[in-house]
Amino acid sequence: MSQNNIIIKYKDTVLLQDSEIESVASSLSDYLGTLKEVAGKTIYDVPESFLSLPDDKELFQKSEEVAGIFANLSLKYIIVAGIGGSNLGAAAIYDALYPKFDGFLSKHPKLLFSDTNNPREMELLKKIIEENVHEPKEIVLNIITKSGTTVETIANAMVLFETLSLKFGEQDAIARTVVTTDEESSLWKIALEKGIQVLPVPKKIGGRYSVFSPVGIFPLSLAGINVAEFLSGAGSVRDSFLSADLNENPALLSSSVDFLVHQKGLSIYNSFFFNSELESVGKWGRQLFAESLGKKNDKEGKTVYSGMTPVVSVGTTDLHSMVQLYLGGPKDKFTNFIHTDGTEIGRVTVPVHSIFDPLVSVISGKDFQKLMSSNLGGTMEAYKENSLPFVETILPGMNERSLGQYCLLKMIETVLLGKLWNINPFDQPEVESYKKIARELLKKQ
Ligand code: PA5
Repeated sequence: MSQNNIIIKYKDTVLLQDSEIESVASSLSDYLGTLKEVAGKTIYDVPESFLSLPDDKELFQKSEEVAGIFANLSLKYIIVAGIGGSNLGAAAIYDALYPKFDGFLSKHPKLLFSDTNNPREMELLKKIIEENVHEPKEIVLNIITKSGTTVETIANAMVLFETLSLKFGEQDAIARTVVTTDEESSLWKIALEKGIQVLPVPKKIGGRYSVFSPVGIFPLSLAGINVAEFLSGAGSVRDSFLSADLNENPALLSSSVDFLVHQKGLSIYNSFFFNSELESVGKWGRQLFAESLGKKNDKEGKTVYSGMTPVVSVGTTDLHSMVQLYLGGPKDKFTNFIHTDGTEIGRVTVPVHSIFDPLVSVISGKDFQKLMSSNLGGTMEAYKENSLPFVETILPGMNERSLGQYCLLKMIETVLLGKLWNINPFDQPEVESYKKIARELLKKQ
């Protein structure tokens, strides 16, 4: 039987006193009160308004309406041109629900992500359109960029749009394109002028907090994912994730623990997933954590160089790659072991009789889940033996609902940690500065 909500186990493994955690958590009470007020309205007037997205029926309806225009039984590919916060959320959920080898099956539609400007990848995408797409209705191009000016996204979108235009003519290319952007961007205006379908990204919502907006839910819905469940999973736990009661609120617990382990000198945050299909979820969380919390200055302008370096590990793959370092190397890491409660469908058992029997006899007849849980159990024991602090996060199954809960958990944890560090978790000044320099360099080329 699946539990209903995410559980975080931490007692005896975080190597912290309960009183320390309680004291940090209590300092967040007022801010949690503010967040509750924000969550109660569907007005996007502050960056924390991402909390309102799971409940926003109007935005959900709009996204579903547009998906309804483009969905049909012949749809083969939805290509998302977007980068960072504009594609990592959708990729996370898609990869979790349609893991690794799904791409090799003939069933459709498939969601393809075009983010960086890689000529070989682009050649392949063009080839897919040229060889596999026979009618306009078989494809959708979703250009996602809040600013409407991100170089990588616009360059990829231009090439893909041109490919569609050459194949089907500009009017059909327009008819099969959807632009997701800020309503005040120049891209929004161009799209409207040309008759391209548009979906809004609410003004105050930053890319990495936008997975519950059309940025995430439109392409996912078109790919056949139950986005209503994804949103309702997040909505169902939001009140508890904003509670000031540590026993009820895993986001409060996590941020308080993160704050304390960082204070004790740990500078690396390792998200160690024991369901390998969650790797992209890890990369989504990595961006959220890194871009939100890595800040030179605090809110008063004092230089603080805040942040922990987030890394993503995958079990059991990285037991054969990274764990020697994790157990034997510098003690500078805090680990979050993340896995589901094992209730997802998909049971595989090692055959009882096989010519390979003599090799590792203990595995005969064992369920894959058991192999995974023994490896996870063994790893956590080894962490304990080496006095390495960790928490264990258990998701209620591998489905839209539990993924919605997890995404909301990480967003609230991040914002609370930003509050504890007194930094702004919603801006990205250093990203903007490199973008400016890159543009200048481009002009000279
Ligand atoms: O989270 C963020 O704000 C960033 O990662 C952006 O999503 C990323 O830079 C892409 O920006 P845009 O959506 O404007 O193309």
